[in-house]
Amino acid sequence: MVREPVIKGDDEPEDESSGGESGWDSSFLADDIEYDDALRPQRLSEVVGQRAVVERLEVFLDATRKRNEPLGHLLLDGPPGLGKTTLASVLPRELGTELQITSGPSLSAPKDLLPFLTNASHGSFLFIDEIHRMPATVEEFIYPAMEDFRVDITLGEGLNARTVNMKLQKFTVIGATTRSGMLTAPLRDRFVRREHLDFYEDQELVEIVRRNARKLRTPITDDAAFEIARRSRGTPRKANNLLRWARDFATSKADGNITNEVVKRAFEMLEIDQLGLERQDRRYLEALVKTFSGGPAGVQALGHTLNIPSDTLEDEVEPFLLRCGFIQRSPRGRVVTMAAMEHLNLNPPAGGGLFR
Ligand SMILES: Nc1ncnc2c1ncn2[C@@H]1O[C@H](COP(=O)(O)OP(=O)(O)OP(=O)(O)O)[C@@H](O)[C@H]1O
Ligand SMILES: [Mg+2]
Repeated sequence: MVREPVIKGDDEPEDESSGGESGWDSSFLADDIEYDDALRPQRLSEVVGQRAVVERLEVFLDATRKRNEPLGHLLLDGPPGLGKTTLASVLPRELGTELQITSGPSLSAPKDLLPFLTNASHGSFLFIDEIHRMPATVEEFIYPAMEDFRVDITLGEGLNARTVNMKLQKFTVIGATTRSGMLTAPLRDRFVRREHLDFYEDQELVEIVRRNARKLRTPITDDAAFEIARRSRGTPRKANNLLRWARDFATSKADGNITNEVVKRAFEMLEIDQLGLERQDRRYLEALVKTFSGGPAGVQALGHTLNIPSDTLEDEVEPFLLRCGFIQRSPRGRVVTMAAMEHLNLNPPAGGGLFR
């Protein structure tokens, strides 16, 4: 019998996109988990894009079903908002098994992980979000659990300490990370499959926007869907957030339909330009040009100048600017490019960076 997946544990971790007090304007982009969940694909067939990844996962699932064995451990990596949590929740649903959810930062000691391991039923899934932030002690504790489905528990202290070996059910770990480079090699090697999620094409985002507008029962024109998609920085979560904003704007300032005209006015108000650059991206580039003469500048220094944590810059601002070709990463730091200067209509700095 197919069981409905049961979602347990501490749900979504705090999102990286909420830099809140740091001057990072997340007022509207703040991740609204409920909204995210409402629009999240429920089945693999509803997942738009990432075709190569999805096809490989289908094979993986098919083989698992035919052999009636638990799925091998799976690591998903890629920038925020591209669908790691989505895929992690779709897979157990496809197999009709249970899903437990936790995250690296909430596992401060092995005892925090133990209940998840002992609760894991045969073939069930344990999703560990932000797995790169799991402390070393927890990481060592999970090795035998992943490899041999057992844990070694130390009881008592000092001379009386003894280790008890406990057998676990065969389960599957799905790890998600925005920083696969921060994973230790032994942990990475325990994942049978590793999948990297990449940014989406505009047409895929158009499809996501259209589907989600339908889910939200909001009429949207094709060109408006395209305008939203191309400002979404290749990221479905951004597309969803922009769609929500356009929908609010259409309700408040127009007749509720999302048209090209509505979208343009809505984005002007948000200060998002045609490429999807936001105020903080422009501040980043301007700081690099004006304060650091075009670079090279270290990300820490940029973070201090902008009053934004350098992690946030690395995870959320830089990947898109790199992808646009607006900055380059050199061993000595970040350097602004001519394309960025042109896009922002800035004059080249007197010295430094690419202009020396
Ligand atoms: N392939 C997709 N097709 C349709 N919608 C998607 C897809 N991927 C993501 N989304 C939408 O984007 C939202 C964000 O995706 P998700 O939460 O899975 O990202 P994530 O990679 O886990 O991000 P983070 O690193 O911040 O946790 C989802 O709620 C879903 O609505
Ligand atoms: Mg996630």
